[in-house]
Amino acid sequence: MIEGGHPLKGEVNISGAKNAVVAIIPAAILAQDVCRIENIPNISDVSMMIRILYQMGAEIKMINDHTVEIDSTHISSFIVPHELTKQLRASYYLIGALLGRFGRAKVAMPGGCDFGVRPIDQHIKGFQALGAAVSIENAMVDARVEEHRLTGNSIYLDVVSVGATINIMLAAVRARGLTIIENAAKEPHIVDLANFLNSMGADVRGAGTDVIKIRGVEELHGCTYSVIPDQIEAGTYMVAAAATHGDVLIKNVIPKHLESISAKLVECGAQIEEFDDAIRVRMPDRANCCNVKTMPHPGFPTDMQPQMAALLSVARGTSIISESVWDNRFRYVDQLSRMGADIQVNGKVAVIEGVDFLTGAPVRATDLRAGAAMLIAGMMAQGRTEIEDIVHIDRGYELVVEKLTDLGADIRRVRAEEQVGESRVVAGA
Ligand code: EPU
Repeated sequence: MIEGGHPLKGEVNISGAKNAVVAIIPAAILAQDVCRIENIPNISDVSMMIRILYQMGAEIKMINDHTVEIDSTHISSFIVPHELTKQLRASYYLIGALLGRFGRAKVAMPGGCDFGVRPIDQHIKGFQALGAAVSIENAMVDARVEEHRLTGNSIYLDVVSVGATINIMLAAVRARGLTIIENAAKEPHIVDLANFLNSMGADVRGAGTDVIKIRGVEELHGCTYSVIPDQIEAGTYMVAAAATHGDVLIKNVIPKHLESISAKLVECGAQIEEFDDAIRVRMPDRANCCNVKTMPHPGFPTDMQPQMAALLSVARGTSIISESVWDNRFRYVDQLSRMGADIQVNGKVAVIEGVDFLTGAPVRATDLRAGAAMLIAGMMAQGRTEIEDIVHIDRGYELVVEKLTDLGADIRRVRAEEQVGESRVVAGA
């Protein structure tokens, strides 16, 4: 529940990157040893992934909220049922990791945010190129290879896919010979996964460019590794600072990863100062309109598109957002419209006529980043906004209510079973 109209001011610390950690945890399966992973965010997608490994037989030691030790020596099963995968898109990384370790994986199809069709044909094409036979029956992906070991090959991805690039890397690090992934995704978390794999003794080169070369090794060992900061969490606080006419120092970031977001905010009129591992965002005046086209890295990230739309809904003039990664990522627009935004969607394009102000309303978090957009809209709006289904937000934002409260937002969590209304809210939770 948010009372809008408070500018965000102060400092916020950014947590470890969700989309890196959800690949690094399954990668620990490949080591048959202890991996200590530091700077993990305390969010539900990560605890879910840790729980999956635990249920598969890994020994898990939570050293503190942000450090876990995973000993995957005793994992013996290559089967991961639907109950474990249904809420998490990244559960498909278990296919690559189990194939790499056992030469066999039987993993239920993944869950995750609903942006329309989310095919995994490029993952399957990669596994097949490495010598695996892959079939899908009863919503389980069954991949197997004779003699328990994959063989390196060249794979050209038809679409730039983060998930397929990561999954093929996971499968290939213990394959026989050289694997080359062309037209690979270049997101910061792909580089982070490559660094983690190399710390375990893998030979991965070129991550962060569109050609990744992986020379397979016989075995991998444990390591200690600290995850990079979350580009999208940082970007979300940058947009929130701008949208509320605030002044926020966002700490523990890699400014290079934020360049596309900084550039757009500057176009909107924000003042941005970069430091070695921090970035300061100020927005003295009403935002200017601008056009945004989402692209794979280093383009403007699709995972920042809804948050940017919230900001542009009150900008001066008309903005156009073109979504070029997902077919259906404008489902949140109906929610913004309830708050008075003027947005027309036509396929993968949204035209936003900036209005003078938003007004608080009951809205839903239709998915993770849509939920982040609702938080931003609620903080900008006049009056009270109630966001339902915040379980989506908790999947990807650590201590979001606490971090925003520290910055001066008027926000609190209300238990789902409580009736939300002036007189009926009895306690925060
Ligand atoms: N695609 C295919 N075939 C495939 C794989 C992907 O056609 O086999 C298409 C998709 O339909 C989409 C495009 O390729 O149109 C890009 O999909 P990608 O595989 O890159 O997405 P993903 O790996 O499923 C990850 C993030 C998403 C983020 C996208 C794009 C994780 C766990 N998820 O998804 O993050 O939107 O990359 O950057 O890393 C989020 O964090 O909120 C989130 C949704």
